Amino acid sequence: MASEDYGNTTEKPASKNPVSRRDFMNEIAGCALAIAGIGAAVVTVEYSSPNVLFEPPTTFRAGSLDDYPVNSVTYIQDQQVYIVRTDKGLWAMTAVCTHLGCITQWKPESSQIACPCHGSKFERDGKVQAGPAPRPLPHFAVRLTADGAIEVDKLETVKGSEILRV
Ligand code: FES
Repeated sequence: MASEDYGNTTEKPASKNPVSRRDFMNEIAGCALAIAGIGAAVVTVEYSSPNVLFEPPTTFRAGSLDDYPVNSVTYIQDQQVYIVRTDKGLWAMTAVCTHLGCITQWKPESSQIACPCHGSKFERDGKVQAGPAPRPLPHFAVRLTADGAIEVDKLETVKGSEILRV
């Protein structure tokens, strides 16, 4: 008959790796679930927040008439707009070339607006003098506010003949 040794109280020496395989796998699964949960929460928050595109306002104030002497072409860099004033009046037009969208430059020595990209040339009223630009530079609506400021609306294009008589 086999005898059982109940008197042996020696314990197994402590393992160097106290985490069992099952515990390890449970921890991995828990981490994976936590990561998936965080990902789902981020996607849900992004989906439920409004998808709004903030654009700069299309209307801007361009100073007063005193800022634009007669027979001047002034480039407003942050708006990419020319303000042109002659003895007939004042108008605003884009500085963006109608060919491929380069920014044109006023050349006072030749009284032309020139595009540095492909050589288009425009008169100061925006008409094309030399291509390849297919269309004149569009003019924007301009008005004088009650407090004497020039207000330009880049969203409203007008005919080249519609100038602010001042
Ligand atoms: S973009 Fe101005 S001429 Fe081509």
